[in-house]
Amino acid sequence: MEFKSLYNKWRPAFFSDVSGQEHVTLVLKNQVAAGRVSHAYLFFGSRGTGKTTCARILAKAVNCLNPRDGDPCNVCEACEAINKGSTADVIEVDAASNNGVDSVRDLREQVKYMPSALKKKVYIIDEVHMLSGAAFNALLKTLEEPPAHVIFIFATTEQNKLPATILSRVQRHNFKRITPEVIAARLAYIAKEEGITAQAEALSLMARLSGGAMRDAIGFLEVCAASADGGPITFEGVAALLGLSDRSRLIDLTEAVSRGDAAAALEVFWELHGNSREISGFLSELLDLLRDLQFCHLTKDPSAYLELPEDECKKLAALAAKFKPRTLIALSDMVGEALRGIGRYTAGGKTAAELLIIKAALYASGGMEQPPPLAAQPAAAPIKAAAAPGAAPQPTQPAAEGPKPFDKFAEFMESFEKDNPILAAFLKSASCAVDAQKGEVIFAADHPMVKKLAELPDNDALIKRHMKAVTGLDLRVIIK
Ligand SMILES: Nc1ncnc2c1ncn2[C@@H]1O[C@H](COP(=O)(O)OP(=O)(O)OP(=O)(O)O)[C@@H](O)[C@H]1O
Ligand SMILES: [Mg+2]
Ligand SMILES: [Zn+2]
Repeated sequence: MEFKSLYNKWRPAFFSDVSGQEHVTLVLKNQVAAGRVSHAYLFFGSRGTGKTTCARILAKAVNCLNPRDGDPCNVCEACEAINKGSTADVIEVDAASNNGVDSVRDLREQVKYMPSALKKKVYIIDEVHMLSGAAFNALLKTLEEPPAHVIFIFATTEQNKLPATILSRVQRHNFKRITPEVIAARLAYIAKEEGITAQAEALSLMARLSGGAMRDAIGFLEVCAASADGGPITFEGVAALLGLSDRSRLIDLTEAVSRGDAAAALEVFWELHGNSREISGFLSELLDLLRDLQFCHLTKDPSAYLELPEDECKKLAALAAKFKPRTLIALSDMVGEALRGIGRYTAGGKTAAELLIIKAALYASGGMEQPPPLAAQPAAAPIKAAAAPGAAPQPTQPAAEGPKPFDKFAEFMESFEKDNPILAAFLKSASCAVDAQKGEVIFAADHPMVKKLAELPDNDALIKRHMKAVTGLDLRVIIK
């Protein structure tokens, strides 16, 4: 029998089986049901989240002889031919390997001909961002005057690499990272169907480690099932297999740092290094851990943000409590800097990592006077004479129109930092603008977690309060 990986075997055949992308699948279903299908689509977003899957379902749905509510039936001749890949009317092109202008010219020639057996000719062009500039230009001509019997479905993880001329001619659908809960539910379903027994915590752990990619999560399930060899898949088993046992040793190391016990911290480091851990991998996991600890300081319920099992969160919260928020920021900066400099060292940076650990332990326990400089500190702007207590500061002049870069950002940060240094560290890396007319302050942050955290009621109120102190305005806080 042909071997099929689990994720291929369980590729959804109906829109309604696609998890976590309802904002896309509902629209597509309705379009098919109403006979209002567009001539060109772009499916973009995170990898392993259902782009190719939905492209194939859509190709079937528009050709199905008995579609139901916009979903294909998967049993008629047309659906069967597409499922088997035996029709010449649904063409999948991998733009990564056919990226030249010639393949697009060929395509433009073929597009003119009517479908041979099905209702519509569907071109699924994967990794479309890989096309050359000339190929895009050639494609554009077809998109300008598409024959009625043709549908294009482009898929990419890198929408930003597509020319605007293409983007404006396609209907775009964003495939989001799938939440751990939704992934775990799908894993539980597949496990049940496959007769695989697994602890719920084990499935959540796989879901979390997948980073929102369903394909990766199903891949983990397959590997873990093979390794459990018929036995139940346990949390510990997954942790060991997917290299998470290092994480508990990293926690030990950080614990030792908090006590200022450099020797104990070094011992853990040597053990990890002895297990042929790469220094850069070690440092970036340490950085991840420090980030998680910072989140613990930001909210009373870090489990909602950390996407870790309950007891793991408790462990982290206890560890976080051993550090002052400022110390965590400084340590992250130290590790981040070491990580950036690692290429400069010989012997893979082992000595540099050892020195870093000693310095960190010394600093965390207060034995080092000078805190290491904060990396992202903006140049402090000269601060105007402080307003007398109680007296409202002068409102800043309303901007003519639209958001303006916030000129008192440094001043705001300086006061805000005193109340919430961790959130301040995140906001520092965001760009900030004030729209005085609309009464808004807008932060554009690059980490989605920053949005979630800054929008917590307490944090939102804190930002507002400090904004008012600096600008005299009551501003709504918008985090993008
Ligand atoms: N939203 C989803 N619901 C259920 N299963 C999914 C989903 N997304 C992905 N999968 C599983 O992962 C496999 C791969 O998905 P797919 O090929 O659609 O991902 P993709 O978004 O095209 O990824 P890439 O960007 O790497 O091309 C599918 O066969 C399916 O088993
Ligand atoms: Mg794909
Ligand atoms: Zn059908």
